[in-house]
Amino acid sequence: MLASADLARLRASFLAAAVVASLCARAGYGQVPTTLDNFFFPGTQPDASNGVDFDPIISADNCRGCHEAYNPPDLEYPIYSRWAGSMMAHAARDPLFHACLAIANQDASVSGDLCIRCHSPGGWLGGRSLPTDGSALRDEDMEGVTCNFCHRGVDPVFKPGISPPEDQPILDALAKAGVLPTQLGNGSYVVDPFDSRRGPYTDAPNYHGVDTMYSPFHVASDQCGTCHDVSNPAFARQPDGSYALNALGMEHPTLDKYDMFPLERTFSEWANSTYATLGVQANGVFGGNHPTGVMRTCQDCHMPDTFTYGCVFENLERPDIPAHDFNGGNVWMQDVLMSLYPDDYEHVDPYYLSDSQDRTRYMLQNAATLEVTNEGCNIRVRVVNETGHKLPTGYPEGRRMWITVEFRDDVLSTVVERGAYDFDLADLTAADTKVYEAKLGVDAAVAQASGIPEGPSFHFAINNKYYKDNRIPPRGFTNAAFAAVQAAPVSAAYADGQYWDDTVFRIPPGATSAVVTLYYQTASKEYITFLRDANITNDAGDVLYEQWELTGKSPPVLMRETVVQSLVAAAPCDADCDASITLYDYHLMAECVKGPGERLSLGCEAFDTDLDGDIDLHDFDYYQRWIEGP
Ligand code: HEC
Ligand code: HEC
Ligand code: HEC
Ligand code: HEC
Ligand code: HEC
Repeated sequence: MLASADLARLRASFLAAAVVASLCARAGYGQVPTTLDNFFFPGTQPDASNGVDFDPIISADNCRGCHEAYNPPDLEYPIYSRWAGSMMAHAARDPLFHACLAIANQDASVSGDLCIRCHSPGGWLGGRSLPTDGSALRDEDMEGVTCNFCHRGVDPVFKPGISPPEDQPILDALAKAGVLPTQLGNGSYVVDPFDSRRGPYTDAPNYHGVDTMYSPFHVASDQCGTCHDVSNPAFARQPDGSYALNALGMEHPTLDKYDMFPLERTFSEWANSTYATLGVQANGVFGGNHPTGVMRTCQDCHMPDTFTYGCVFENLERPDIPAHDFNGGNVWMQDVLMSLYPDDYEHVDPYYLSDSQDRTRYMLQNAATLEVTNEGCNIRVRVVNETGHKLPTGYPEGRRMWITVEFRDDVLSTVVERGAYDFDLADLTAADTKVYEAKLGVDAAVAQASGIPEGPSFHFAINNKYYKDNRIPPRGFTNAAFAAVQAAPVSAAYADGQYWDDTVFRIPPGATSAVVTLYYQTASKEYITFLRDANITNDAGDVLYEQWELTGKSPPVLMRETVVQSLVAAAPCDADCDASITLYDYHLMAECVKGPGERLSLGCEAFDTDLDGDIDLHDFDYYQRWIEGP
């Protein structure tokens, strides 16, 4: 570990470097000359500024000897093996992370320090986040969110009589240094400076030779909330709801995450859902061996209870060993990791990674239910969110979920396909279906400062505006509560209590059945191509692009599929399905040509007479000919 003085010097040289970088003219667009102070957050600091020596975060190799056993289907101790297949174990190895990190550093100097804080907490605490391109990270830092880091996690709010008494002096020291976090999120973690093992059990025998403690923080969502709310502190919320760049070289004025630009709000979404208040009966779909089946915390769904052993030496069988699955929606990145690190069996183990893909597919298959109803001349596709947060949630760039409808005729030939995806080219026809996603971008002010065109963009570190967020809210959603945590829908409307979304598709002439499919994709072609083309610093974008081509181009994962039969199409232009074409249909059509956003909800597809997926003058001509008669 570097001494504090070295770190201070290194820090100072980076502050200077940032200024130099900002003076350099750069191709296409300019860099915002932010400094480390722009990205400051409280919590345990890398230079151990609370005045205590800090035991380095040690590798998971120190845990696997006891917490790993893998011989499925008969026997698995689901701790090391599950973690090792999860994305958190690869958060710093992840080439998508590195491709995005390069752009972040290009766009806002030294912003990478913020990224490394969450993606490699061991590296960050060890002072190896500088340079901010991650080049100082060591092998063990590549373990990302590792065992020793999580199990030294201290609840930033001391709960008398519940928190381990050891927590109190740690928090006191941070308070004295002025860096005690007041909120969960942004990687403002508090870490025990001494190696310790905080966990869920009061009766765990201690084989560790270091302190083992029961910690209520570890059974609450709060621990996950430390990183699963991500904000950009370089921006401050303005009275009009926009986000403006803070003064350079200054900490965020309030350090309140809800005054910063929101990048991810998974924890806040959850905290404002029924899962956090009453819990939701999941009937065994999630939670493994959970005693009641009522899902509340992140752990309930993402670390299912398993009847097994936690350690190979102490054969204490428990009904609730938390399997360290941490599976979400990412099924693609494991293929990339296996392809990129074929020789590192120790840390990129193909068995663990492919098991993890299977479990992730299970999560995706159960993340939504699909209800398709035949309503006269339309079908209504309802997607119900069964997760504890928005669907999809979390990382916004390139992630998306969409509906594909294949209408078929009597002999099962395709009449027309809505939301078609070309698996070879990785192209989605988005205009004629519903795509659930968040689209971030830059506003006029940032466009001016950076030279990036105003509008949606993938410039993660300087995006300061939501152009779209129609991701489906969880149970318990209210507009007021979600607006308060900066997670309100954008360019979409959900009523209070609505945790589903409906899309209406017109049955085209000749169609008698439809196959309705819900897909999830980790990264869109547009995003991967951007990360390659915008990179003027290193080869991280090229490395990712090459892997993307080698691994099926982040293929969409089928979440749900339903077939509806006995469909009957109405005549073209009969928008209200009353079997006659009247002026009322004409009025509806006028609404439809107003904009693509409206067309799906108003039954506008009735006017897509040529079935080409849009409503234009050609369709209008058809309508006129129709009412004029033969
Ligand atoms: C406060 C913690 C935190 C910070 C800071 C943070 N991230 Fe992340 N990042 C996450 C979490 C949590 C996820 C997983 C969310 C998900 O999968 O939906 C994630 C996911 C990602 C992914 C998606 C990876 C994949 O394989 O799909 C990329 C890329 C990424 N982050 C890049 C960055 C960059 C670049 C920065 C800095 C500008 C950054 N992150 C800062 C917590 C953080
Ligand atoms: C020498 C064997 C051994 C090693 C090495 C080891 N553990 Fe353990 N650990 C155990 C045993 C045995 C238990 C008790 C299991 C039980 O009761 O279910 C345990 C329990 C735990 C608990 C639960 C504590 C509680 O009170 O709930 C945590 C957390 C933990 N270990 C973390 C780690 C981490 C992190 C590492 C590596 C840095 C590690 N262990 C290395 C043997 C070991
Ligand atoms: C130190 C910060 C940190 C903490 C604490 C943390 N996470 Fe994460 N988590 C991340 C990052 C970073 C990623 C993204 C890794 C990547 O994709 O490169 C991630 C990814 C995930 C994913 C996978 C998402 C996907 O796309 O498949 C799940 C699920 C998850 N975390 C759940 C949890 C749960 C549950 C907890 C609490 C027990 C937790 N995390 C605590 C940082 C953290
Ligand atoms: C993202 C944070 C996180 C990471 C990374 C993580 N754990 Fe855990 N671990 C938890 C939480 C949270 C619990 C308690 C969950 C619950 O009770 O529902 C837990 C529980 C445990 C237990 C208790 C089970 C028992 O038998 O005593 C052990 C042991 C353990 N972890 C070891 C490890 C080891 C070893 C690793 C690395 C291979 C690891 N953990 C990685 C968060 C984490
Ligand atoms: C009711 C069960 C449930 C609860 C509770 C829950 N999740 Fe999830 N989560 C899921 C399912 C199912 C998915 C897969 C769908 C998806 O990826 O959007 C998922 C996906 C995720 C992802 C990946 C999102 C993406 O698409 O990139 C992250 C990250 C995550 N959860 C974190 C959390 C955290 C943190 C909490 C607690 C604050 C939590 N989850 C609570 C069920 C749950």
